[in-house]
Amino acid sequence: MFVKTFKTFIIKVMKKEAQKSIDKTKKRIAKELKSKKLISLDNYVIEKIKSSIVNLIKNDIVLTPPPPHISADMSFSVFEVAKELKQDPKKLAEESATAINGQLGHSMSKLIESAETAGPYVNLFLNKNKVYSLAILQTAKLKEKYGQSGANAGKVALIDYSGPNIAKPIGVGHLRSTVIGQALANIYEATGYSVIKDNHLGDWGTQFGKLVYAYKQWGDKKKIAENPIKELNELYIKFHEEAEKNPEIEDKAREIFQKMEEGDKKLLNLWIKFRKISIAEFKKTYERLGIKFDTYLGESYFAGEAEKIIQEALNKKIVFEDPSTGAIAVELGGLPSFLLRKQDGSTLYITRDLATLKFRTATFKLAEILYVVGDEQSLHFRQLFALARALGYIDGAKAEHISFGLVLSGGEKMSTRKGTLIELEELIKQSVEKSKEILRQKNKDLGEKEIEEISEIVGLGAVIYNDLRQSRQKNISFDWNRMLDFEGGSAVYLQYTFARINSILKKCPECQGETLTLTTFEKDSEFALAKKMMFFPMVILEAQKHKSPHLIAVYLEELAQLFNHFYNEVSIIGTEDRELRLSRIMLIKSVATVIKNGLSLLGVKTPEKI
Ligand code: ARG
Repeated sequence: MFVKTFKTFIIKVMKKEAQKSIDKTKKRIAKELKSKKLISLDNYVIEKIKSSIVNLIKNDIVLTPPPPHISADMSFSVFEVAKELKQDPKKLAEESATAINGQLGHSMSKLIESAETAGPYVNLFLNKNKVYSLAILQTAKLKEKYGQSGANAGKVALIDYSGPNIAKPIGVGHLRSTVIGQALANIYEATGYSVIKDNHLGDWGTQFGKLVYAYKQWGDKKKIAENPIKELNELYIKFHEEAEKNPEIEDKAREIFQKMEEGDKKLLNLWIKFRKISIAEFKKTYERLGIKFDTYLGESYFAGEAEKIIQEALNKKIVFEDPSTGAIAVELGGLPSFLLRKQDGSTLYITRDLATLKFRTATFKLAEILYVVGDEQSLHFRQLFALARALGYIDGAKAEHISFGLVLSGGEKMSTRKGTLIELEELIKQSVEKSKEILRQKNKDLGEKEIEEISEIVGLGAVIYNDLRQSRQKNISFDWNRMLDFEGGSAVYLQYTFARINSILKKCPECQGETLTLTTFEKDSEFALAKKMMFFPMVILEAQKHKSPHLIAVYLEELAQLFNHFYNEVSIIGTEDRELRLSRIMLIKSVATVIKNGLSLLGVKTPEKI
């Protein structure tokens, strides 16, 4: 039985390493669940205001800054709740406002001064100086932790992201999964989740028969040693070119893969070598991006288990053998039918994914599993989840496909055939080069070494942020002018705003230590900025809830705009009144902290100067 042999081989050669990473992850999660110190939501004044209202009116609400023409400080809508309760929204809003006004100075801990209504909206007027002082002091106290909370304490999520295919360069398609997946991992962690980061490598399947064939036929060891992934990829491309002229080699490749599945040691050793080289290369890119996975189990790890699952599904009569071909097929309500085992006995991507899913829920106590994979695999995941549910593999956990749009070039999907596909390393290289040029022009005081360091941060930031600044469902493209625009809509705009605040703070001795326990403000622009800053913890929670990193990007851009408006209006260090001056200094410090923390959630660094 080939399956058994294959599994034995995998166990010997790779199981030890895989098991080590699994054990380590289990240990880390257990420790985190027991002793990780998390920040209570009550520490945040915005959450305090929210929970006091929720306790009073017994309905959930979402606090937002009101639109500019409303003079209130904050508002919430009762529209949805009223619809649910089948009540008149206007009346419900009025009742809520009356309840709040009746409690002023009591359960509202003197944070709210009054509540008014406008249709289904309740508008709140706050004790501004008190509320904003609390937010600013909290930022100063928590620093890089400001915004984090234990809202989801005790829950474990597994995020499956990046998942490149070995012996191929990471392309821009996998860039999206990598960047979105990492941001979600950060955001989940910031709300108290324990997160397992799994890289489900594409390292098994008939294509490896082709690669091994090509390697034996045309492989040049020296060239491969010099530039492994590029050479292996070229061998694979050459195979396809040859196969057009000479289709029999397809059969040869299939035979080779079959032998690999049967456990042919020589062939498998070659494959192991390709896998190793690939992972080492991938890790270089991940390191640059600041990404570290817990596990790299990959499809191959589950190739042996896949056959067992087929047996299980056959026994449960959930799948059936196609009498004419002998293949194993699945038909589940409303979904197109699909195969679990081909006619020639080999398993498929979905079979291995099914075994992976079973393993995940059996090994970890998961609240959620997120699959960060492009839109084009949406049917695959619907089929996978439906079958897994039928087999009882995801009881208790929530499995979700976190899909995203395409990467376009000139309005079209990038394609290898058209030569428009860019490799991730090349894209990063271009971005860093362009950042260097711009930095040289913008800041003549920077030395070469500084330019090197800063351009790496700015260049990577441009690529990552370009992906995350809009809803992930939308397609992205690479427009360098926009990606590196200092005026807005880019990472460098935020990084530059951060660096600007830094340079103000560096210039004044007073900025280093002195603090006030109660800040006072004067201008609308500074109240607006303080208010926005206070919302940050809530934005993180929303981004987690909706699995939408772009909510953080949108928020940061609005914050930076408010800062720039404020900066143009008032002289911060030049403010005469001492209390006002110190309040302003504390305010901009907290804005810098929020920009830094927000960008860091997206996986973008902030240089001290630009
Ligand atoms: N290697 C796959 C691809 O390139 C992505 C893997 C996604 N994860 C999964 N569990 N299917 O399309």
